[in-house]
Amino acid sequence: MTSTNDIRRSFLDYFGSNGHDVVPSAPLVPYNDPTLMFTNAGMVPFKPYFLGESVPPYPRATSVQKCVRTLDIEEVGKTTRHASFFQMCGNFSFGDYFKSGAIPFAWELLTGSQADGNFGFDSERLWVTVLGDDQEAIDIWLKTGVPRERIQSRGFADNYWSMGVPGPGGPCSEIYFDRGPEYGREGGPEADEDRYLEVWNLVFMQDELSTVRSKVDFDIAGSLPKKNIDTGMGLERMAALLQGVDNIYEIDTTKIILDRASALTGVEYGRDEKSDVRLRVIADHARTCAFLIADGVLPSNEGRGYVLRRIMRRVVRNMRILGCLDPAMGELIDASIASMSPQY
Ligand code: GLY
Repeated sequence: MTSTNDIRRSFLDYFGSNGHDVVPSAPLVPYNDPTLMFTNAGMVPFKPYFLGESVPPYPRATSVQKCVRTLDIEEVGKTTRHASFFQMCGNFSFGDYFKSGAIPFAWELLTGSQADGNFGFDSERLWVTVLGDDQEAIDIWLKTGVPRERIQSRGFADNYWSMGVPGPGGPCSEIYFDRGPEYGREGGPEADEDRYLEVWNLVFMQDELSTVRSKVDFDIAGSLPKKNIDTGMGLERMAALLQGVDNIYEIDTTKIILDRASALTGVEYGRDEKSDVRLRVIADHARTCAFLIADGVLPSNEGRGYVLRRIMRRVVRNMRILGCLDPAMGELIDASIASMSPQY
């Protein structure tokens, strides 16, 4: 089995050997950025470089960034792919390469052979999307070897990326893996995003946004000083695909925590969907608590501390509903630490 840690290593090695500085993950509490509650994307620590506010010490970087997103917290455990804590693999160009560099890099790492340290995907099962008629991106994909029928055009809701707040943004091109007919209908990501799972987002970071009202309603104040690249490949999603499991809660690193919750509650995983959802929520949330506390957030009545408190409460509540009335947080945090310490 390809471990999550091996995938992480392969990603950093690939971009490291292609001229990128390997940068450690920044903390979950963004430094000096009042617009954000938590680091929620790989590009967050690099925002000043994109905006031209400071000079990057390297033209290219790569990282695996720990992230917390709580907007979709109600979806955690119910879908195959929602998590409050996740790790985002990224490669970044600060005015160095642009579309014609980013697209072949992603393609080579995805489709190159595992014997050479790549991910070994069958290229025939990969689809890509671009924003509207981004002909430049379409032409590069065609040249890279993706046939026209597996390149789809989508609108701003899907193929424009911003932080959701004023700052850098740009059109993007996404890569999807076809999990097969048992997961949904034919027709590419435009038809079914469960069957066609998004694995990698390549953002052509070129605009400065002054206002962001929604994903499709924002104002572009002008161009960024340079054309940049920001990409995001979800490590847990990639691990689920390469490990052949159905969802991100069953990959090696998360399953350790889920199994501990199962042992503590005496509830077997895989018997009843409702209990499974609770076990997945516990596994996801316990790890989020461990990482937030490690980065200096403590439970409180406001701001980040309140978010942590809510997440902790959801862990405790679900443990109790599953029958564990004893304090269990410490055990679940220990399991999270055991699972994640090889990487952190
Ligand atoms: N910054 C690109 C992404 O998070 O998908």
